[in-house]
Amino acid sequence: ADYDLVVRGGEVATGFGTARCDIGIRDGRIAALAERITDAAATLEAGGLLVLPGGIDSHCHIEEPARGGYVGTVGEPVVTVSEESFVTASTSAFAGGTTSVVCFVPQWKGEGLLPRLADYERRAARGMLDYSFHQIITDPTEAVLEREVPQIVAKGIRSLKVFLTYEPLHLSDEDYIKVLVAARRNGCLVTVHCENYAAIKWRTERLIAAGMSAPKYHAWSRPSVVEREATHRAIALAELVDQPIQVFHVSCEEAAEEIARARHRGLKVWGETCPQYLTLTAEDMDRPGFEGAAFMCSPSPRSREEHARVWEMIRRGTLDIVSSDHCGFSMAGDKGKAVSGRDAPFRDIPNGIPGLAARLPILFSEGVSKGRISLDDFVRLTATNPARLMGLAPRKGLIAVGADADLALWDPAKKVTISNRLMQHAIDYTPYEGLEVTGWPVATVRRGAVVMRDGVVQAEPGTGRFLPRGPYEMVRPRGVLANGFDAAPAG
Ligand code: URP
Ligand code: ZN
Ligand code: ZN
Ligand code: ZN
Repeated sequence: ADYDLVVRGGEVATGFGTARCDIGIRDGRIAALAERITDAAATLEAGGLLVLPGGIDSHCHIEEPARGGYVGTVGEPVVTVSEESFVTASTSAFAGGTTSVVCFVPQWKGEGLLPRLADYERRAARGMLDYSFHQIITDPTEAVLEREVPQIVAKGIRSLKVFLTYEPLHLSDEDYIKVLVAARRNGCLVTVHCENYAAIKWRTERLIAAGMSAPKYHAWSRPSVVEREATHRAIALAELVDQPIQVFHVSCEEAAEEIARARHRGLKVWGETCPQYLTLTAEDMDRPGFEGAAFMCSPSPRSREEHARVWEMIRRGTLDIVSSDHCGFSMAGDKGKAVSGRDAPFRDIPNGIPGLAARLPILFSEGVSKGRISLDDFVRLTATNPARLMGLAPRKGLIAVGADADLALWDPAKKVTISNRLMQHAIDYTPYEGLEVTGWPVATVRRGAVVMRDGVVQAEPGTGRFLPRGPYEMVRPRGVLANGFDAAPAG
């Protein structure tokens, strides 16, 4: 046979409307798009379905040995290894139509990068998802930036991740500038968690002193202004160094406006948002006892009114990627959300929520089915844009001859009520329980292998591949420097 698999009769999302055609797959790649392909060893019927590029989730925390578990500002650091393994994460991703992820290699203060990278490479290789890494930098010593960063870049890692808040992770402005300089020298993107550390710490201390320590006060500890300020600062310093950045998990209009202004000035700044900032609210954390912790993530979920404004920023193209920021901690037991006890103050509860499997269905339903965005927008937000920004295109992120055959076969009319069972992750809850969605993935294809059908995931652990990234255009500096003086020359 000419092809290993043909996907037959679907409405194929090209990014420029849809085309009714067959997809011929050979050796894991798309080898032909044609009106009719007959000579194939196997057939996957797609009549009545949309065929979308497999989702690319460019921000998820999987099996990440995080010191502190993304807890707040002044608590005793606790060590939490994410409960989600690469195997369970792969199952969950495939169940939700996602085929590739970019996840995080940790750096712990006082340590170098390479030993933890080697450990993380071993973990990731056990999964079924294709994957790339962001390298977290928490301790930008000269040895790390000058010796180790070039080595991780040589391995095909092209993004550095920094935090401007969290007790054991946050960088000073001085250290952030150092990371920007190293990224510029090495042709990396910098991704940034933008919230003001000192402001959150101060408010957290005042709240807890006033006895306001229940989960809902997590939102009170970090109002939008702390996100807007840090977004502004992250962009301004990136402009100074002439280094492209992506602002992670933008939750509100006022932070997005900082990005819009920067882009208006021609800066290479991109913004990401997540389904939680389109569906969850601070009120969700206002539940008796510990229950509100299930919705606790940073930045905090905002309000219904803010959701509408974030949608508008998506429509304008200011926020051009929707990732999950999957970072799951179970509610029961003592390894997840309750690691510091069920009556711990919000400060000591791990931040993060699971969302790998829910990302595409929620964005499709709330976006395409409800008429807020087009199908083309959906494809760009969930696959094409993350692939381009992360340097994974054209191998990933679009349906074209030569690209990897990563596909989500989508029933746009299927009505589903989201439940934890459907998420197929290792976490014991989903914050989206009970949400009704229209549109659902009925099959997932990863490099030509059918890895999910009707909710049943079948894939051999260890079949996921590392996606090395070379130099790419999106992260090339603009060459615009204050006074023409290059304070960060190459080499
Ligand atoms: O609360 C969150 N978002 N947890 C995951 C870590 C991060 O800040 O991205
Ligand atoms: Zn973050
Ligand atoms: Zn300002
Ligand atoms: Zn994150």
